[in-house]
Amino acid sequence: MNFVNRTPPQSVRVSQIASELAPNAIRNVLSVLDRPDIISFAGGIPDPTLFPRERIRHAFANALEDSGSDVLQYGASQGHPDLRQALAEHMAARGVPCGPENILVTTGSQQAIELCTRVFADRELSVLVDSPSYLGALQVFRGLGVPMVEFSDQPPGASSPGMAYVVPDFANPTGYTLSEDQRLALLGRADKEGFVVIEDAAYTELRYRSQRTKSILQLDCERTGAIEGTRTLYCGTLSKTLAPGIRIGWVCASTDLLTLLVRQKENADLLTNPISQAAAARLLGDGFDTHVDRLRDVYSQRLDALLEAIAELFPAEVECRRPDGGMFVWLTLPEHMDTEAIFAKSIQASKVAYVPGREFFSRQNQRHHLRLNFTLNPEPKARDGLKRLADLLHDEFGLSRAVPRSGPGGKA
Ligand SMILES: Cc1ncc(COP(=O)(O)O)c(C=O)c1O
Repeated sequence: MNFVNRTPPQSVRVSQIASELAPNAIRNVLSVLDRPDIISFAGGIPDPTLFPRERIRHAFANALEDSGSDVLQYGASQGHPDLRQALAEHMAARGVPCGPENILVTTGSQQAIELCTRVFADRELSVLVDSPSYLGALQVFRGLGVPMVEFSDQPPGASSPGMAYVVPDFANPTGYTLSEDQRLALLGRADKEGFVVIEDAAYTELRYRSQRTKSILQLDCERTGAIEGTRTLYCGTLSKTLAPGIRIGWVCASTDLLTLLVRQKENADLLTNPISQAAAARLLGDGFDTHVDRLRDVYSQRLDALLEAIAELFPAEVECRRPDGGMFVWLTLPEHMDTEAIFAKSIQASKVAYVPGREFFSRQNQRHHLRLNFTLNPEPKARDGLKRLADLLHDEFGLSRAVPRSGPGGKA
């Protein structure tokens, strides 16, 4: 049964917030993707053939054997001590000196975003967002009735911001990365206007080239002297490196800010699945870095192949920028083209799925972009899908043909 587009029954009353919350467009897109005939560039999905299944199996078995009934019992809302210790070490290795008291374990980083929003925003306290931005976060803000103000808005909006939300590394959907100067400027503005910064680091580990940029939380620690003086909440996840099904995310922040989140976590689900937490603590040990290195190798080759195919198959008026990491390439078509209208044809006739760009804008005012995932499909399949899309855009929507260009990855 497809629940996505169903309206509430007439015979019950629902809250204003529930009745205003439109279906998540990505869920709409994903709902047609079980079909094996479709080549999908749509989800922000890791390649399941690269999941470290054996290590995961061992970690869960050991968690059950070693911890006895502990992992079958209720536990602390803040998270399992072993996992918080492992995550504190993970953060320290990335330039953020902290202890387990600075970690809250969440059920994926999606929950981290929601908990932060419940604490730092409401109908009067707005959220500052990039445009475009991660759709799942925009849905949380809409769902909680929080006004969204774009960073570039002048004047900056009627309500004062309680928080800024950014994906500073290889953003979803654009793949763009904020420079160190931009990160420092954001912290400067946050100081001046008194808001917190939600740093969504979902893709940070998936870097394929260029130097690592310091995280906003690291920069905040460096300028204030220690994590306890900071105003940044770093939201991490194991979904993009290990497997989304483990459902482990975390927030790293000062204990003052974290305490506010722990109360929300208690309300939301008491605690994150303790077996997953105990397994994740083991998975973060030996072998984690080697596994992520392997992902980087495979995904960076897929990115190269996708960019080469784009350069070869699409004309120069289709623009894209090479991301330094992550999972997405953002395509910009000529302004008159509507990627949502094209999507239906793309599924039906060409059997290719992508995510139309409009949903990633808080005001949903731009229709000529689309997001392509490059981590799921190996090269021949991805190329086949792109060829079908380029043919459709040419045959049905009047896009010109590509003119052969010299050099690989020409427009990256
Ligand atoms: C930018 C960003 N943040 C957060 C999430 C949520 O991921 P999870 O809840 O699996 O950690 C996603 C998922 O695609 C994402 O793209």
